[in-house]
Formats: sequence, structure tokens, C-alpha cells
Amino acid sequence: MSDLLLEMRGICKSFPGVRALDEVYFNVLRNEIVGLVGENGAGKTTLMRILCGIHRPDQGEIVLEGKKVSFKNPRDAREHGISMVFQEQSILPNLTVAENLFLGYEGFFSQRGIFSKRKILAKAKEILEEFGLTFDPDVPVHRLSFAERQMLEIARNIWSAQASSVRTPILILDEPTTFLEEKEIELFFAKLKEIRERASIVYISHRLSEVVSLCDRIYVLKDGKNAGVFDRAEASEELLRSRMVGRKFEGEYYLTDMQGRPRDEVLLEVRNCTKRGKFYNVSFQVAKGEVVSICGAVGSGKEEVCQMLFGLLKPDEGDILVEGRKVIINSPEEAVALGIGFIPEDRRSEGLVLNLPVVENVTLPILEGLRKGAFVDSQKQMEIAEKMIHRLNIKTPSPRTPCANLSGGNQQKVVLSKWLVSRVKVLVMLHPTRGIDVGAKQEIYRLIRDLSKQGIGMIILGDSFEEDIGLAHKILVMKDGRVQAVLDATESKPTPADVLQYVV
Ligand SMILES: Nc1ncnc2c1ncn2[C@@H]1O[C@H](COP(=O)(O)OP(=O)(O)OP(=O)(O)O)[C@@H](O)[C@H]1O
Ligand SMILES: [Mg+2]
Repeated sequence: MSDLLLEMRGICKSFPGVRALDEVYFNVLRNEIVGLVGENGAGKTTLMRILCGIHRPDQGEIVLEGKKVSFKNPRDAREHGISMVFQEQSILPNLTVAENLFLGYEGFFSQRGIFSKRKILAKAKEILEEFGLTFDPDVPVHRLSFAERQMLEIARNIWSAQASSVRTPILILDEPTTFLEEKEIELFFAKLKEIRERASIVYISHRLSEVVSLCDRIYVLKDGKNAGVFDRAEASEELLRSRMVGRKFEGEYYLTDMQGRPRDEVLLEVRNCTKRGKFYNVSFQVAKGEVVSICGAVGSGKEEVCQMLFGLLKPDEGDILVEGRKVIINSPEEAVALGIGFIPEDRRSEGLVLNLPVVENVTLPILEGLRKGAFVDSQKQMEIAEKMIHRLNIKTPSPRTPCANLSGGNQQKVVLSKWLVSRVKVLVMLHPTRGIDVGAKQEIYRLIRDLSKQGIGMIILGDSFEEDIGLAHKILVMKDGRVQAVLDATESKPTPADVLQYVV
């Protein structure tokens, strides 16, 4: 078969306490987009880290264009044309676009005797144009948006593979749309389809609808083992989902008829709040047990309103009231003292202490309450952590494993559990299901319903309009810093189109 580019055969990999990969096979054909899906902790990232030289397999072999290879490090893999685009991004923000593009490939220019900055910029411009990117190669990268930086990283990876004379580079994308807005995603997909003409792409995502529409073939992993490979024609979300979890999904996703109703008491009120340049004259209430979603595009001000509630941003005007009392929130500590919890968007850096074990992270917000004299009641602490691990189905070899060793989605569950153990009255959640697999998503939806029934008020920025509508009792739509509409979602649910008309 001439179009077989890469084979991974019988790959095994264990970490202390976990068998992450068990005899996994995985092929990549020339010029295809191949999907890789599976529940949190299924082994997707580990398999790709082996492919790009970060981890060594315990067993198994990698065959590239018919030749057995073994990569010593990412640089070695890169020279064979294989590279991964990281969520954390490996772009250096203080360097310019051109400097980032050629980082580590300065030799390319000196070999050709090119030292002038003008020529380097011209080459950078040429490469950017090939990828349909219009930004100036001489600006520092921190001026670019997240989406632009991501495209720059992709362009760099493919360019550098071609500079090493690789015919078909393999580009690995691990949940690349996580931080993109819906409009950016469309553009991104169009770009990927162009890139397919000159490269092969491995595409990891929890968003099955994306995978089904984008990928030519799709591999499913389950508990570190192969659980099927499907051609585009036969793959459906339903099929993938059932292979991922090993059972069929039943019932409606959001179970809206099981949703509780908000009570009359108002927990939190935002009254005519303005932060100049961010949002203006925003007012709304959150009642006991009420779930309020805020919808809006980038720049609508929805993120900033949430930050204000957690003391990360101070309003210029207006009042915040908690249970009828005016409050001033100067810091996250003060927000927590008032009973306001916050699940940030960037969980890895803001939500977790990665080198601390799961048990410590889970109980961090209630540590004071667990003190017995000078010591922490470690037995109680362990009990609480074990309960949360069970309840959220957090995959970890032990409660004592550092969070850094958990898969991305499982780290996210730890962040959620932190707030569930503390006694919050109001919980502000930015994208609580981002990067979480379908099974865990349903678990989180169930938790949100449970919390609502317990009388906790919630403010949510969902990952899609469907999610906002499905979970919320009330939807606030913001545009350019102002509230455009407040839609009821308790008596009957609006449609995504109902929401969209106020967003754009
Ligand atoms: N560096 C590491 N040290 C120890 N265990 C690890 C390490 N990296 C991954 N693991 C474990 O290996 C298993 C597979 O993790 P992996 O990150 O590959 O999952 P994943 O499919 O990418 O999940 P997610 O969708 O949540 O990102 C998990 O049980 C994880 O805890
Ligand atoms: Mg992963």
C-alpha cells in the first residue's frame, strides 16, 4: 500500500500504577486527517507523546515509510517530519513572528548565505502567505490572538519538516479547538483541509461532531486499548460514543425535565455594574438553585463580568449584593469568604497545584476546617478525597498521585471537585465541560442539577449554546459589553437561533 505513511505496532506504555497503553496499533496514511478519540485517561496523549519522541514505549515499534524508527527526543521526531502542537503552545511571546517561525532553524539561512533581516522577513511572509496568514512577520507574537498563534505554530511545524526534506509531515493536534471561538473553528477547519494537501494530520478531540465531520478515519481508544477504527462513511457520533464507553448512551443529554426550579430567595445581585472598556450597566440576579448562563462572542464582556464576581476585576460603578447585603470583593480570598466559588478557564495554571497530590488539591479550599490543633485530620481529608474521586469518576492510580500525572480531563474534574467539597453559595464556572469526555460531561451536568436542587446558585459560561440552553434557567445574552436580552429557559427552552440573534 503506497499511501501508508506510518505504523505504530503493539505499543505498550506503563506509568507507576497505570497501564496507559496496551498493545495499541495506529496507522497514518498520506494526506489524511485521522481522528483519535476516547474517554479521559484512555491514552490518546500518551500515544502521541510516544510518536513525537517525548516518551519511549515499553514495547512495540514505529515504522515510518517502511523503515523502523525510534525517536530519541522531540527534535529527532521533528527532523523526521513528526511534530505535535501543544495546548500550552511552544511559541515564545516576546519574539517576533519571524523569529518564532525560524527558531532552531537559523542554519537554514546561514547555509544559503542569507543574513539580512529583510530577506528573512521576506521568507517569513512567503511562508505565512502559503498558509493564508496575513499578520506582519515583524510583530511580537504576544500581539497575536490565541488562534493566530496556533496557526503560526502549525505553519512552523510544517515548514520546518519541509526544510528537513520530509515529503509528508505528520502534524499532531491535541484538542486544538479547546480555546477557539465558534467562528474561529470554522476558519481553522478550512485551513486544516488545505494543509491536508501537503501533510497528514492526527486530530484528537472530545468534540465528536467535529471529529466526524473533519476526519477521514477515526481510531477509538478505551482504557489504553484499541476499541475500533472507522472510515468516515461509517462513523457517527453515536457509534463513536458507544465504542468509547462500551455501552450505548440513552436518554436525552441534558435531562431538562429533571431540572429543579429556582427558588424565590435572591442569592446574588449585580446592579448597574460598569467596568469601562469591558462592560456597561450590567444588572442581573441569581436566585437560590438558579443556573444563569451568560452567552456572547469574544469581547462581549461575559468573562469580565465573571472575573468581577471573583474579585479579579473591580467595577468602576455599580453594586454587588450577596443575600441582600452590599459587598465589595477585592480578591478571590474575599470572594470565597462570601461564599462565591470560581472555576477558571485556565485550569492548569489557576485551578490546580500540579505537583501536589490529588487528595491535597481536592481538599485545599476546606483545609482550615480539617485542622485538628496544629495538624490536618488526614484521615478525614482522605475520606473526602476518595468520595470525590468516586463521585466524579476521577481516573488516578491513587489519591496520593500528583495532579501533574493525571490526564487533562481528569485534572479538570479535580478542579471541579475542589468547589464541590467547599460550602459555596454561588459558583461561577467558565466552561466547566471543556476538554471533558462525553461520559464525564453527563456526570457534570448531573452535578449541576444536583447542586441546583441543593440551592446553590450558578453562573455558567457554557461551551456551546446547546449547553447553555440545556443547563440554564435563565440566559443573559451580552454583546459589546452590554446585556442585549434575558431569555427564560425554565418554562420552555429557547432554540440556539433564538440566542444567536442577540449575539451577533
Ligand atoms: N507522565 C505521567 N506520569 C504518570 N501517569 C501518567 C503520565 N501521563 C499520563 N499518565 C496516565 O496515563 C493514562 C493515560 O493518560 P493520557 O494523558 O494519555 O489520557 P488522554 O486519553 O489524553 O486523556 P484526556 O482526554 O483526559 O486528555 C492516565 O491514566 C494518566 O493518568
Ligand atoms: Mg490528553
